[in-house]
Amino acid sequence: MTAAALHSEGWELKVAAPVDVDALMLWFQGKADVEIWGGPTFRYPFTRRSFRKDIYWGRMASYSLFDPDGRFAAFGQLYVRSARINLARLIVHPDLRGRGIGKRLVALLMRAGAARFSCDEFSLFVFRDNRRACRCYEAMGFVVDDYPDDMPHADVCYYLTRPVHQPGTRTCTAAALPD
Ligand SMILES: CC(C)(COP(=O)(O)OP(=O)(O)OC[C@H]1O[C@@H](n2cnc3c(N)ncnc32)[C@H](O)[C@@H]1OP(=O)(O)O)[C@@H](O)C(=O)NCCC(=O)NCCS
Repeated sequence: MTAAALHSEGWELKVAAPVDVDALMLWFQGKADVEIWGGPTFRYPFTRRSFRKDIYWGRMASYSLFDPDGRFAAFGQLYVRSARINLARLIVHPDLRGRGIGKRLVALLMRAGAARFSCDEFSLFVFRDNRRACRCYEAMGFVVDDYPDDMPHADVCYYLTRPVHQPGTRTCTAAALPD
């Protein structure tokens, strides 16, 4: 995992710490919140132990985003799937949604992913009815791609991809962040 933090306009993306995962567990109000984020197989109610298992803690690159005042604002994970850098379990603190933090998170995760993995494309899965998430990813250059044959939930999810280097749009390396 990339050890160095990434910075942008006072915001900082760091490798997630165990204390962040404890805080993250408090961001869910119920099963529906967990499902839209972690998928239908994510256990709820969760325990500290089941939560860590279900996010593959210690086995998947996990990142926390901190605002300029040092508050934990968002979380996301990265792994390589089918030769693409897959963004997973993205979430913004419930009190801070709809303010551009999701786009900032995606931009910084793409930078972290491009530095860590040698792939030409990013990917992610999203529930079709998660309009805010779909809009966030669309704004960051993701488009609907063919759904992988080996993955479940093709009827309710989209598979989105975008090139790592995408000239003329927000890229993973420079000027990628929302205002
Ligand atoms: C999905 C999530 C990470 C996005 O982060 P965010 O900070 O809320 O998103 P942003 O403010 O950066 O961008 C949201 C985009 O959706 C738009 N939007 C906001 N509310 C919306 C709504 N109710 N319906 C449709 N679009 C909406 C915004 O205008 C913005 O688009 P724009 O750039 O064209 O203006 C966040 O909402 C979240 O944590 N949701 C719960 C967990 C989740 O669903 N994770 C995704 C799993 S795939």
